[in-house]
Amino acid sequence: MTLLVHGIGELVTNDPTLGEGPLGILRDAALVVEEGRVAWVGPADHAPAADRMLDAEDGAVLPGFVDSHAHLVFAGDRAAEFAARMAGSPYTGGGIRTTVAATQAAGDAELRANVARLTSEARRQGTTTIEIKSGYGLSVADEARSLRIAGEFTPETTYLGAHVVPASHEGRTEEYVALVCGEMLAAAAPYARWVDVFCEKGAFDADQSRAVLAAGIAAGLVPRVHANQLGPGPGVELAVSLGAASADHCTHLSPSDVDALASSATVATLLPGAEFSTRSPYPDARRLLDAGVTVALATDCNPGSSYTSSMPFCVALAVREMRMTPAEALWSATLGGARALRRTDIGHLGVGARADLAVLDAPSYLHLAYRPGVPLVRTVVLNGEPSP
Ligand code: NIG
Ligand code: FE
Repeated sequence: MTLLVHGIGELVTNDPTLGEGPLGILRDAALVVEEGRVAWVGPADHAPAADRMLDAEDGAVLPGFVDSHAHLVFAGDRAAEFAARMAGSPYTGGGIRTTVAATQAAGDAELRANVARLTSEARRQGTTTIEIKSGYGLSVADEARSLRIAGEFTPETTYLGAHVVPASHEGRTEEYVALVCGEMLAAAAPYARWVDVFCEKGAFDADQSRAVLAAGIAAGLVPRVHANQLGPGPGVELAVSLGAASADHCTHLSPSDVDALASSATVATLLPGAEFSTRSPYPDARRLLDAGVTVALATDCNPGSSYTSSMPFCVALAVREMRMTPAEALWSATLGGARALRRTDIGHLGVGARADLAVLDAPSYLHLAYRPGVPLVRTVVLNGEPSP
């Protein structure tokens, strides 16, 4: 079965060999999908025949967004905490424990329904790959089930047993770290691809974070790190020294952190939804880009610091608030996310790529930032299948 996407006003391929500029843009284009993969890309008037047709109605078509950082397995919400913050209270990671209590009390069906709701919300906004972390279970059984449920929705599952020290281990951080590195890891690892740690004052220090990541690596997981979100710290340096796929947040960086990222394969994943929702200064994206760091954009979707599933919203924030160009932001939200997940099959629309794409009800990807808050995604094609 082949599918011809025709009537594409602007096709963003993210392959500079296929079209104009770093985004490899083609105009008046068509694209053919076969067996879930991109089989042909080119000018509309050269398009081959296909079994099925999808009319883009002169809209823009782009690679589906790759949201490489989300915390979707939880119960409850923290709207009251958000309201208090907007009235002047500061954000601390302390609210995580509120969500842990709600998550531990929830049944599997409730957790699964919440992940289903959020992943479908994300998909309607153009996200075709999403990473999902545990981190609100924080017991052996609850971390394992969080990852088991996450794995029903994505192969990109991340073990975040080291999110905070839970109330059950108050004052016994070392004992908790041993659990995270031992019994909890053994229960979680079969369901996880990645290991993550919240390396931050009030969560885990450099030695504890290194121990968690090293144990994860020994169990076959690949590291990524919550680094330098709330203040300066050792997270980025640790991420780079362990060859982590990404250092996420990167809000408070020293010059040597920037240098370390620039001379490494570690992607800096920026999460502007968190700064928006905690009313904090945004990361300095220009400094990272100008130093040659690979930058990804992701939602950080979670009930505390960033309760948005919208990659278009993050693109708009990156452009308006972080001075990324619309092209840089689009790249970071697609191919940048793929780099952060070490995937070569997604984030672009070259021949052979997975046929994951978003059709916009707008003539150009520029409208994602130009028309903030407007639901511009008309159709999403996931692994070659259009919906709705
Ligand atoms: O990425 N930084 C740590 N974890 C989340 C926040 C979690 C929460 O507040 O519930 C984050 O922002
Ligand atoms: Fe996060």
